[in-house]
Amino acid sequence: MSSKSGGTLIVLEGIDGSGKSTQAKLLYDWLIKEGYKAVLLREPTNGKYGRILREKLKSGKLPPDEAYRLFLLDRIEDVRTNIIPALKKGYVVVIDRYFISTIAYQGASGIPIDKIISDHKKYGVPIPDIVFVLDIPADEAINRLKRLKRNFDSFEKKDFLEKVRKIYLNVGRYIPTLVIIVDATRNVKEVHELIINYVSRFLSGEKEE
Ligand code: TYD
Repeated sequence: MSSKSGGTLIVLEGIDGSGKSTQAKLLYDWLIKEGYKAVLLREPTNGKYGRILREKLKSGKLPPDEAYRLFLLDRIEDVRTNIIPALKKGYVVVIDRYFISTIAYQGASGIPIDKIISDHKKYGVPIPDIVFVLDIPADEAINRLKRLKRNFDSFEKKDFLEKVRKIYLNVGRYIPTLVIIVDATRNVKEVHELIINYVSRFLSGEKEE
């Protein structure tokens, strides 16, 4: 990881079904409406490694080491191709999942968190300005996904997601940045308002405690 200059990097995180993709899009739309130069990204990306990842995640078993390797490769490509260039141009970059997902998911699947952090440092992955963790109990998230009629893969099992959630709730101890835990059981509008409240204060230069 590395500190960055210029631009603002805002990350939306949470377990599957937490609503982070919806919130990332709403935040991006709000930034554009407010006149900011903004870009909306997501990981896994639609690039070479991201596509391989989606295929392999769908088709069942992906060994933890192999998953970790692919997520890291996808991230390094995203950082070099999309994130750093946008930050250099002064954009507000909103990203739906980032290395915090790797800490939480691959950490929960047994990859040592120290190793995840040191690998990301080695590749100079920029540290975000704000991380929103949308927090929801795993069973509630799974019920939401069921209502959306989505299929569950091995990534979406309750015990595993509960383990991932626990790491998310403590992720502030691993990364030197502002981590805001948001109660994602609230409705879409309330969560959005809470997020833009923090973001607008951050962008207008006020520091959070
Ligand atoms: P997800 O955000 O659900 O993508 P999509 O909406 O396209 O399905 O991400 C897919 C899965 O990948 C999800 O279960 C979380 C997992 N994941 C990791 O395990 N590590 C990572 O570093 C990232 C970015 C995602």
